[in-house]
Amino acid sequence: MQTGTKEGCAEGDCGACTVVLGELVDGKIRCRSVNTCILFMGTLDGKEIRTVESLGTPNAPHEIQKLVAEKHGSQCGFCTPGIVMSLVALQADGMSKTRENIDEALAGNLCRCTGYGPIIDAAMAMGPGAQPDNNSEQLATLQHDEMIKLSATIYGIDKRFYIPKTLEQLAELTTEHPDATLLAGGTDIGLWVTKHHKTLHTIIYLGNVAELSTTSQTEDAVHIGAGVKYTDAITKLGVFYPHMDTVIRRIGAAQVRNLGTIGGNIANGSPIGDMPPLLIAAGAKLVLQSLEGERTISLEDYFIDYGKQDLRKGEIVKSIIVPKPGIHQNYYAYKISKRFESDISAVCMAMSFDLVDGVCSTVRIAYGGMAATPKRAAAAEKILEGNDWTEKNIRSAMGALSADFTPIDDMRATKNYRMQVAQNLILKAFLEDRSGNALHVLGANA
Ligand SMILES: Cc1cc2nc3c(=O)[nH]c(=O)nc-3n(C[C@H](O)[C@H](O)[C@H](O)COP(=O)(O)OP(=O)(O)OC[C@H]3O[C@@H](n4cnc5c(N)ncnc54)[C@H](O)[C@@H]3O)c2cc1C
Ligand code: FES
Ligand code: FES
Repeated sequence: MQTGTKEGCAEGDCGACTVVLGELVDGKIRCRSVNTCILFMGTLDGKEIRTVESLGTPNAPHEIQKLVAEKHGSQCGFCTPGIVMSLVALQADGMSKTRENIDEALAGNLCRCTGYGPIIDAAMAMGPGAQPDNNSEQLATLQHDEMIKLSATIYGIDKRFYIPKTLEQLAELTTEHPDATLLAGGTDIGLWVTKHHKTLHTIIYLGNVAELSTTSQTEDAVHIGAGVKYTDAITKLGVFYPHMDTVIRRIGAAQVRNLGTIGGNIANGSPIGDMPPLLIAAGAKLVLQSLEGERTISLEDYFIDYGKQDLRKGEIVKSIIVPKPGIHQNYYAYKISKRFESDISAVCMAMSFDLVDGVCSTVRIAYGGMAATPKRAAAAEKILEGNDWTEKNIRSAMGALSADFTPIDDMRATKNYRMQVAQNLILKAFLEDRSGNALHVLGANA
């Protein structure tokens, strides 16, 4: 029995359960760290898992195990295997060993209560590592084009797990099983099982439908498949919207961003998801698909009320169309949370506007955490629209937020804090813009 991988929090937060997930991409194995406590077994078809046992033995430890021990980076028996596997993923991914990359790779290994410095020393001393390609031929033999339909009765409960390969198969399955759980990265759904002890009877896994995991570009938009993971979306969107990049990098930690999808963050309808405000401010549209065909709606119209979205039975979120920024467009986005990473937003705000001769137009300000749904600040936008980009107008727009929102008190923030921080974020965008040091959208730089 292999007992190296531990379960600590069982909610994707602590990193004790980190393993390296290998997937065949262009004939090579791409390795990424993931949290197994929220990973469904059925999602692993055609992939490989490396646990801490695959590394070395007490007499012949792997380079990273040896370094962690020698540099005194060993923590408790729960956290160390996860820390080592996060470093293995960093090494295998071929990423350069900058302090920034190391911090990012380890951010999801929450506790280092015996000291972070020695772990960093171990990480900095790592060599380039051998590319773990020795299994790629074996993995290639496991690839197939068949739809998988699994069913079993477990403790008297009938369960089904379907893995379609094409959009057509998926549409047929969602029509046949309109109440099935659509599983993407599982970073929400995993917690329904581990924390809410929910029984999922029929699961349709979206992760093997290639069309959902692709990104493409037209002259004026980036098309992001709903199943594209944060890790893959960062650069595609960040190149046009650098502020979006800075917020996506703070969603969960590497293990969560390696599984979680953009479509899942929208489809779950959460009022505190980070992608909706970022994308609404950018003017994104949502493509929804069912057996009857496709329809396209504005992303903001998808969120009807708390727990209520414009998603019909048998429909899925297929993709997100994100307009490329225009030549005069400015875009700012900020996430406010108690911790820098691995934390849910108290407030997330994104703001887009064109600025020509000091006059604002096409103003879009969107917030998460301020209402029952992600929502635009219509009154604040109205004050800025067609008016001068001045501090006086900015302060009026800040005041107008009280007409736009009646935020709630909860454990993350009080309503007064939320309102004040929401107002200050508009001012922050203004001051940053005025400072001349702002990160500019690609269009504005062109
Ligand atoms: C430790 C941790 C930290 C997190 N940090 C953040 C954070 O900082 N910011 C943040 O916003 N979120 C955060 N999350 C929440 C979560 O990671 C995101 O909401 C994620 O984007 C969900 O995507 P998924 O692919 O994992 O969705 P899943 O869990 O697979 O699904 C989520 C929901 O969306 C539905 N769904 C998924 N894809 C589709 C589709 N294509 N069509 C229709 N319905 C679909 C599912 O049926 C389900 O209802 C965190 C989660 C964890 C565990
Ligand atoms: S057990 Fe904590 S992240 Fe999985
Ligand atoms: S509890 Fe494991 S290192 Fe702190």
